[in-house]
Amino acid sequence: MTQAPVPLLLRALAGETLPRPPVWFMRQAGRSLPEYRELRTRAKDFIAFCHDPQMAAEATLQPMRRFPFDAAIVFADILLIPRALGQDVWFEAGEGPRLGELPPVETLAAQVEASTARLAAIGETLSLVRGQLEPERALIGFAGGPWTVATYMIEGRGSDRSAARTFAYQHPQTLDRLLEVLVDSTARYLVMQAKAGAQALKIFESWAEGLAEDVFERIVVGPHKAIVEKVRGAGVTAPFIGFPRGAGALVETYAAQVPVEGVALDTQAPFALGRRLQAQGKTIQGALDNLLLRAGGPALDARVEAYLEAWGQGPYIFNLGHGILPDTPIEHIARVVERITRG
Ligand code: CP3
Repeated sequence: MTQAPVPLLLRALAGETLPRPPVWFMRQAGRSLPEYRELRTRAKDFIAFCHDPQMAAEATLQPMRRFPFDAAIVFADILLIPRALGQDVWFEAGEGPRLGELPPVETLAAQVEASTARLAAIGETLSLVRGQLEPERALIGFAGGPWTVATYMIEGRGSDRSAARTFAYQHPQTLDRLLEVLVDSTARYLVMQAKAGAQALKIFESWAEGLAEDVFERIVVGPHKAIVEKVRGAGVTAPFIGFPRGAGALVETYAAQVPVEGVALDTQAPFALGRRLQAQGKTIQGALDNLLLRAGGPALDARVEAYLEAWGQGPYIFNLGHGILPDTPIEHIARVVERITRG
């Protein structure tokens, strides 16, 4: 009997330097694909789509059929957690997420156990996808970072986060308690995802920018450490990728303190910073500008080569610094993925 191949993504996260990096793209499923836009018309709304395992599995697999990506990421959203905790969440067409009034934190806390059960459909999506995906391609589960999710819960929508940051200063105890509730529900959700077939777990801290070091340690580093420790405590061994987007120089504080195997870098990450993290034993992921992917041309080709040269000598996962934009030409995606998988 031949042994099932270990997916390249998992080998990279185990610290291996490979002949070529594995590749996947944030938001590889979604509106950049015509087949997604078609599927989307059949769902009542985006939240219902995420909670329909058949449809969500199909959306997860669409980019895998079109491109030779090394990993799929489950089709879901970071805002499913606040909804599962009892805060209203909906998506305004063309505008983005909207959330109802923030319930008292203890009301949310009382829903932590129930929240995991309310997210069972995402586990079913993962099982369906794992059953259909080739063994050499990895399946990634994810959740939002507690601070990023809290910014949406506090502001009620996407924003410049100034109200959430002000809240962090004016109501530190309430914020810390809210983050604790989010750590608990997120850890349970990730354990459930790993048991359902997720082989790697990513924490999207999309709004980690603009925080002073002590605040960053309190509201980003601490909660991420707590999530990883809780998930590990539950016996899950799947590797973690942490993505403190916008953290700038504090990425190094993050990497030194949070026991994640992989650190996802955003578009501003210097080559030298990536190499330092690799030298410290982290696998790095990133960091191609999604605007450059959309723009295409010689500048895109040159930048791809530059990443391969700068980061290819250590454990590296090729990816973007932020998600694919809906109007990105499919040929640009195909060209980059072909270049990486060619080796
Ligand atoms: O392919 C994948 O990356 C997997 C699926 C995925 C989605 N959202 C699907 C989605 C993932 C990993 C996310 C994460 C997410 N969601 C983040 C963190 C990453 C980041 O981009 O910073 C954030 C901040 C959200 C919250 C969110 N969801 C916003 C702000 C929006 C509206 C903006 C937009 O692009 O429309 C969403 C909606 C959303 N999530 C869509 C998709 C495919 C578009 C919804 C639609 O089809 O109408």
